[in-house]
Amino acid sequence: MEFQSKDYEGVDNWKTILLLYNSALKEIGTKLEILNDEFQHVHQYNPIEHIKSRIKTPESIVKKLKRRGYESTIENMVKHINDIAGIRVICSFTSDIYQIARMITNQSDIKVLSIKDYLKTPKPSGYTSYHMLVSIPIFLSDSVVDTKVEIQIRTVAMDFWASLEHKINYKFEGNAPSYIKAELTQCAQMVSDLDARMLSLNEEIKQSSTQISIE
Ligand code: GTP
Ligand code: MG
Repeated sequence: MEFQSKDYEGVDNWKTILLLYNSALKEIGTKLEILNDEFQHVHQYNPIEHIKSRIKTPESIVKKLKRRGYESTIENMVKHINDIAGIRVICSFTSDIYQIARMITNQSDIKVLSIKDYLKTPKPSGYTSYHMLVSIPIFLSDSVVDTKVEIQIRTVAMDFWASLEHKINYKFEGNAPSYIKAELTQCAQMVSDLDARMLSLNEEIKQSSTQISIE
């Protein structure tokens, strides 16, 4: 049987869409677990601390479409909302972020659609993370559909900051008092300094353990 390649425009019901996005999260989640296991096997080190994934709620999809001036249709949803399926990968060091991103990019069935490197260019709020928009083919009984997933890769420290910032923004509906915003921006700088110091400390530890094993 030959698989028919479809794009989302041919998929017009919510249940099928959900099935696709859930399957895409499973596929990417499994790939990341395999990469982590292999890394442990080869280097005795786990680059991934943990993984969280979620499907955007219909309410939040509709809100986002409205905000961007689109009607709430399935077609607009799959075309314009890139983070319906989202996966967050938390690691220890900034170097792990690029390592994980490279490993994802090297998978031949994953297409990288876009990259936003907020480590190189943090957002004005101080937000840092590495975002990849990818697509992965999902094989159904009679067709194959390339399905989009937003992957956010960040350190534990970045995740700590982003969670609190999100909570504050939610509480103040995006209009937090300026002293809180200023405090958050300062904390973001501390997060970035902490990540840099932890990375160089880890590099030093790695160096000295190599020396010990040579001696
Ligand atoms: P949306 O944020 O999805 O509307 O599109 P965008 O073009 O701004 O995408 P971007 O890649 O910048 O952000 C996507 C996701 O990253 C968001 O849904 C959040 O999960 C996260 N994110 C982006 N900016 C911030 C931020 O300033 N603070 C926090 N806490 N999270 C952020
Ligand atoms: Mg945004």
